[in-house]
Amino acid sequence: MKGIILAGGTATRLFPSTLVVSKQLLPIYDKPLIYYPLSILMLAEIRDILLISTENDVPLYQKLLGDGSQLGIHIEYKVQKEPRGLAEAFIIGEDFIGDDSVCLVLGDNVFYGAMLSGILQSAKNSIANGGATIFGYYMKNASDFGVVEFDENRKVISIEEKPKKPKSHYIVPGLYFYDNKVIEYAKSVEPSARGELEISSVNNEYLKRNTLHVTLMGRGVSWFDTGTPKGLYRASGFVKTMQELQGFYVSCIEEIAWRRGYIDKQQLRNLGQNLIKSQYGMYLLSLVNENRDELSDT
Ligand code: DAU
Repeated sequence: MKGIILAGGTATRLFPSTLVVSKQLLPIYDKPLIYYPLSILMLAEIRDILLISTENDVPLYQKLLGDGSQLGIHIEYKVQKEPRGLAEAFIIGEDFIGDDSVCLVLGDNVFYGAMLSGILQSAKNSIANGGATIFGYYMKNASDFGVVEFDENRKVISIEEKPKKPKSHYIVPGLYFYDNKVIEYAKSVEPSARGELEISSVNNEYLKRNTLHVTLMGRGVSWFDTGTPKGLYRASGFVKTMQELQGFYVSCIEEIAWRRGYIDKQQLRNLGQNLIKSQYGMYLLSLVNENRDELSDT
């Protein structure tokens, strides 16, 4: 399975912070936002990754993440010229996806929770039989998102994009698993009233063919959308609290690479030494030095 991180857009709701730099390069507490969705793909053991961003920002991502080999993964890059919608990721990524299945994660989504690795693994496995797996996440206010509508038997009957009157509290977070048909469906999508190729339209294509699975993420998973200053602040506070309480870092890509066996201890030590003047670098070295194998479920 291939992985795509969509990290473009104009992030106008975060102006002036994003006037000259991509939102996904802003920090969530102690590390760039992009580390969080990247860590999701790495946890799902997806190591062949395409990062899509704007012409301005792709060079910055390349500077930050390179070709991924330092993490034992492979990252390539493509430009999205205009923010024409999430579904365009599959058109831009057509050659990269090839005949494979694909997981799309939005560059501004943060997930954390004990059950996450299992959820990711099951979603990945389910695609082996074709179709799509997306998630439902309970939110008090659902109207800013894609929203799942269920009938009385909990069968999914529609996915609505930013409905004025949401038909449930279950929103669709920015993490989607698709079989190869997603390329064809994305190409057939018409732009919405706001002029975008909506991911909800792609999901409705799967629904029409009875091949859409919606897995509900329980309360054990924390999810943050970081499109506004408040959202960024909230996610940063969460990460700070978790890291201080547990002493384990949230979405530390180097740690995941090491625990999953993508890199060895010496490589982790080198990565830590490059960052030694920061708490983050010290944390990486502490993993090597203290033999902290207690919690392997990163
Ligand atoms: O966060 C989950 C929600 O993401 C879903 O519930 C919605 O169904 C989905 O449409 C999307 O809604 P948003 O309004 O949050 O999407 P937004 O325009 O903020 O874009 C999400 C990310 O993708 C953001 O980091 C910018 C990037 N992006 C967006 C567009 C439209 C691109 O890279 N290219 C684009 O063309």
